[in-house]
Amino acid sequence: MELTTPYSREELVSRGLVPERLPRHVAIIMDGNGRWAKEKGWMRIRGHEEGVTSVRETTEECARLGLDQLTLYAFSSENWRRPEMEVKLLMKLLARYVVEERPTLMRNNVRLTTIGETATLPDEARQPLLESVDLCRNNTGLTLCLALNYGGRQEIVGAVKRLARDAAAGRLDPETVDEALLARSLYQPDMPPLDLLIRTAGEYRVSNFLLWQISYAEIWTTPVLWPEFRIPHLYEGLKAYAQRRRRFGGLGE
Ligand code: IPE
Ligand code: IPE
Ligand code: MG
Repeated sequence: MELTTPYSREELVSRGLVPERLPRHVAIIMDGNGRWAKEKGWMRIRGHEEGVTSVRETTEECARLGLDQLTLYAFSSENWRRPEMEVKLLMKLLARYVVEERPTLMRNNVRLTTIGETATLPDEARQPLLESVDLCRNNTGLTLCLALNYGGRQEIVGAVKRLARDAAAGRLDPETVDEALLARSLYQPDMPPLDLLIRTAGEYRVSNFLLWQISYAEIWTTPVLWPEFRIPHLYEGLKAYAQRRRRFGGLGE
């Protein structure tokens, strides 16, 4: 299997991108699958199925661009509230995705990780997911992080609980708790800082995604529905990001 190589600096420039102003870590709230299907008079699940193509194209492009991490909101802690049939079909789709995408992940040198309460996902999805994570563990390119059964508040509660347990057991002096320690207790302790958060389908909500991590992320939204999200839309987001002046509370560069 031939390995896809990341773009050279010249290639990035020829694509209208500014290499030194590319985000390192992009997260996407992939929204609008249901609306896309409904517009066509189809079942909602058709939208989710079609969204897999957008996931593949976005992942491959982020790998070629040489980004460190792409974090995708695939299933929230609150998505269990959807009709049983939709949840069931989403889990089936996840199971299929993690198997069928293995060649693409390997060809693009993508490491697969997850955040969220994955231990409670149905076995039919959890098993192939774990196998794919294992298969890709030595890849050294882009980290593709799937947020599955993920909730930002739940993540913070989990971290606080762990620290409280350590303090109660006398292993931790509460006075030493700081931002770095709390961050290390989150689902992915080594997650790179989040630079750009994208939401599709024209919503202006965070929907319980990466609450801790978005503190200084740049936010970009697009009306494009996720099943129609393609490389030109990703580039639009990246170009908007390049225009931003991040100040982190200071006066900037
Ligand atoms: C996002 O699309 C996918 C998931 C939440 C799993 P939606 O299913 O939320 O699509 P809309 O928002 O109903 O259009
Ligand atoms: C957020 O989308 C969750 C995912 C993209 C997985 P939702 O469609 O569930 O969010 P709300 O309900 O519109 O806020
Ligand atoms: Mg939605």
